[in-house]
Amino acid sequence: MLEIKNISKIYGEGPAKVVALNNVSLRVNEGDFIAIMGPSGSGKSTLLNIIGGLDYPSRGEVILDGERIDNLGENDFVDIRRGEIAYVFQEYHLLSSLTALENVMLPLTFCGAEKGEEQALEILRRVGLAGRAEHKPSQLSGGEQQRVAIARALVNSPSLILADEPTGNMDQKMGREILDLFHQLNKDGRSIIMVTHAPEIAKQAKEIIVLQDGQIVDKISQQGGEQ
Ligand SMILES: Nc1ncnc2c1ncn2[C@@H]1O[C@H](COP(=O)(O)OP(=O)(O)OP(=O)(O)O)[C@@H](O)[C@H]1O
Ligand SMILES: [Mg+2]
Repeated sequence: MLEIKNISKIYGEGPAKVVALNNVSLRVNEGDFIAIMGPSGSGKSTLLNIIGGLDYPSRGEVILDGERIDNLGENDFVDIRRGEIAYVFQEYHLLSSLTALENVMLPLTFCGAEKGEEQALEILRRVGLAGRAEHKPSQLSGGEQQRVAIARALVNSPSLILADEPTGNMDQKMGREILDLFHQLNKDGRSIIMVTHAPEIAKQAKEIIVLQDGQIVDKISQQGGEQ
């Protein structure tokens, strides 16, 4: 479904030049569950951002369902991402003045979808938060806030979910809950790419990709991941 070919990303110039990604290629197929690991600064977030269209590569191609998307204008890109690719951040990025339900409905509002509320409630139920729909983010635990963020990511039925250290701000139990949710979504046929520092979390993916200095230095296949 998604392929990146010979991607490089260079930030800055002269003495400030940083090669964040150096000739990285990767294929993502339907049903994949990939964990990206590697030391701080190795290019994990940069890679995820380029896959998700939050950033552009300096060189190389991003191909989604057979079509190059790295050279599209901003608006086309947003349209494609809106339908197919969803992003979950470590810091949740919820709007603090809105309720859980309203946060989940945000992407729908912009699409002008009807029945948004019903749909959003159904998804909140799905992530186990039906009873928290009217809560504001400050009234929710970290794990609950992340589940709202995941619900918001799911509201447009993306086929690929990108998550940058989604359990980074949580204790192990909460992290486990979030991971279980990702496993369910993967079983339902969604592809997942997750950046993580935690080996016990990476172990549960079907494949681990290790980045170092902007290059893929290892790929470990795990036969469906440990449960
Ligand atoms: N906007 C930017 N401008 C300049 N340099 C950047 C920018 N974003 C990232 N970098 C540099 O690119 C390199 C890769 O950064 P990236 O954020 O992808 O690392 P990471 O593997 O996600 O690290 P961490 O585990 O700390 O989140 C780093 O050396 C970083 O300093
Ligand atoms: Mg990062």
